[in-house]
Amino acid sequence: MSILIKNGRIITAVDDYMGDVFIENETITHIGKSLDMEADEILDASGKYLFPGGLDPHTHLDMPFGGTVSADDFETGTRAAAHGGTTTLIDFAIQTKGQSTLEALDTWHAKAEGKTAIDYGFHMIVTDLEDDRVHEMKMLADEGVTSYKLFMAYPGVLYVDDGTIYRAMRKAGENGTVVCMHAENGIVIDEIVKRALAEGKTEPKYHALTRPTRMEAEGVHRAISIAEVANVPVYIVHLSSSDALEQVMLARNRGVHAFAETCPQYLFLDHSYYEQEGFEGAKYVMTPALREKWNQDELWKGLKFGDLQSISTDHCPFCFKDQKTLGIDDFSKIPNGGPGVENRMSLVFNGGVNSGRISLNKFVELTSTAAAKTFGLFPKKGTIAVSSDADIVIFDPNRKETISVDNSCTHHMRVDYNAYEGFEVTGFTETVLSRGKIIIKDCEYMGKKGDGQFLKRGLYGGMK
Ligand code: URP
Ligand code: ZN
Ligand code: ZN
Repeated sequence: MSILIKNGRIITAVDDYMGDVFIENETITHIGKSLDMEADEILDASGKYLFPGGLDPHTHLDMPFGGTVSADDFETGTRAAAHGGTTTLIDFAIQTKGQSTLEALDTWHAKAEGKTAIDYGFHMIVTDLEDDRVHEMKMLADEGVTSYKLFMAYPGVLYVDDGTIYRAMRKAGENGTVVCMHAENGIVIDEIVKRALAEGKTEPKYHALTRPTRMEAEGVHRAISIAEVANVPVYIVHLSSSDALEQVMLARNRGVHAFAETCPQYLFLDHSYYEQEGFEGAKYVMTPALREKWNQDELWKGLKFGDLQSISTDHCPFCFKDQKTLGIDDFSKIPNGGPGVENRMSLVFNGGVNSGRISLNKFVELTSTAAAKTFGLFPKKGTIAVSSDADIVIFDPNRKETISVDNSCTHHMRVDYNAYEGFEVTGFTETVLSRGKIIIKDCEYMGKKGDGQFLKRGLYGGMK
């Protein structure tokens, strides 16, 4: 099977030129100014951009959490991602306490295998790491799981203490792998939460009011300091505030391999969403919480000047009616997380490129290339180049859509609300190719369950 994409404006993290792309089976084999080649199918991309497929390095599909399970599974979540122009996800497998991490990996393989629309990899969430388990980290790396997530938040659930963090980081550093950190001081936050509840403060807005940005900054500072001593690169996930970003910048200025991502919710939503009528604020109960609006400008600056490297979604949807209501009388029981995997590319294009905050090249870097490099997938993923996988988005920079749960072009996530309801975006995914197969065309899904493959990732690539 061959496909020739004609007349597109090819944008990578470093290039911007008009050209044609020739795909044979799953791979890009030729790129040229004007390719005169026979192909089984010809796509005309005149007036459109060709981006490398989006890579979202932070999703939680089919994840048991907060007394329920995230609403998208590997079938629905990856299909929704594809609609939005994302062709690779890195999801989180979870080791339960006392369990072998290899057994946990098997559990997550069973959840995903044969179900996904796009390619995927796993990070491993480590919840305990006795000395006799440390050797498993190398075994995971050999299985293509070359990054781990550790939590300073959620005591009693996913939280690990500093000793465990140090142990895991040392081993990760020796193995050439990378540690992702949920950096918030969960122990102090839990004390603040207990006090709020004792005072009868039970509404959703108290989720945010009990999670000061200073406790995120403290977690970031501590995570980076431990990583510095353990000699391992550290990647701060879902960084949400200026206070936290400042800690990343201080560390990078002294030469530490500290990296961070932020997410659309911290760039486009803010604390005022908790002030909505009734229980509506529960839709935005996620961790870290939404911050005061002024933080957004600081995050955009961080993205523009390279102190934040990626934009992931932390897609972890829970239905408003049946799941968020678990916390109707107590904000601490609202399942933490929100939807977003489908809307990331358009939101960032509209709010970043169209608003003049970032360049087109930066857009590609933030939504695809940087994460491919950090997480050992580049140049198979994250660029448009000869020999790379033919994961390509034909993107219409002029198409307008209003994001809504009711818009059949903007919402395929299996959740009963859209966090960006009513947002108008200019710039929308028209066609998506995943390893050379057209899986989305004009809002229609053309692929089939199981098209996606597990990606055995390489070692940390941040030095490449
Ligand atoms: O609220 C969130 N972020 N839920 C998903 C789990 C996590 O902390 O990433
Ligand atoms: Zn987290
Ligand atoms: Zn997460």
